[in-house]
Amino acid sequence: MSKQTELTIRKCLFPAAGYGTRFLPATKAIPKEMLPVLTKPLLQYGVEEALEAGIDNMAIVTGRGKRAIEDHFDISYELEHQIKNTPKEHYLTQIRALIDKCTFSYTRQIEMRGLGHAILCAETLIGDEPFAVVLADDLCDNLDGDGVLKQMIELYDKHRCSIVAIERIERQDTDKYGVISGKEIDSGLYHIDNMVEKPLPEDAPSNLAIIGRYILTPDIFDILRDTPPGKGAEIQITDALLTQAKKGKVLGFEFEGKRFDCGSVDGFVEATNYFYKGSLS
Ligand code: G1P
Repeated sequence: MSKQTELTIRKCLFPAAGYGTRFLPATKAIPKEMLPVLTKPLLQYGVEEALEAGIDNMAIVTGRGKRAIEDHFDISYELEHQIKNTPKEHYLTQIRALIDKCTFSYTRQIEMRGLGHAILCAETLIGDEPFAVVLADDLCDNLDGDGVLKQMIELYDKHRCSIVAIERIERQDTDKYGVISGKEIDSGLYHIDNMVEKPLPEDAPSNLAIIGRYILTPDIFDILRDTPPGKGAEIQITDALLTQAKKGKVLGFEFEGKRFDCGSVDGFVEATNYFYKGSLS
């Protein structure tokens, strides 16, 4: 086994440079990753999911206009001073604990050239080791057990290859996702033989869609460097993963739990209702 694959997952990458145009005007001055579901920004849910999976090193790819993200995962002395020893202090308990336990590092994506390009921008933060990727606008929850990343890391420890989280979707929605096909080698686990970024329903290899959770082995960086722009003239992680799948093994994993597409207004409202109901019980 090579040194790369002996390591377990210590770092989680959060691509967070996108404009969030679907939420304009809300996202004009606020990063979309900072939109709150109840009182917590989307990105904080992602960081909590990573921490639950045993990862404490968060690598965030930001862009212009995203400084609120760095400020969120930092101490606000003025605020701390204002509410110290008041009944409001407990509102900061959760975020303080995260800041204590995790390290946050940042890099900027200068040009918006796609998700694959955003991941490549983080190479200096990740280095030569396997890592997780969370797209914060896919908000996941598993009431009955382990979070999605934790489930994927357990699987990684067994298979030592890149893994994508997948979900069955309505056939008419294939053009919103990366779509995979492959041989089911275990219940809900697929050895991928094809993946296509946002195909029309008639061109989709199946209705198994990639959702925003990945485990990637570090050879993905070299592959990304050689991956030409694909769908939407952007460098697609889906295309790089197909190359990786053809060279070796990439798995698709139907995770346990719920996923909300918080990149859409409908999904965002659904998530808000779900977490609100949860907060009452
Ligand atoms: C990205 C990926 C796509 C994946 C999706 C999951 O697309 O390119 O393959 O299915 O995330 O949310 P985006 O939603 O950023 O356009």
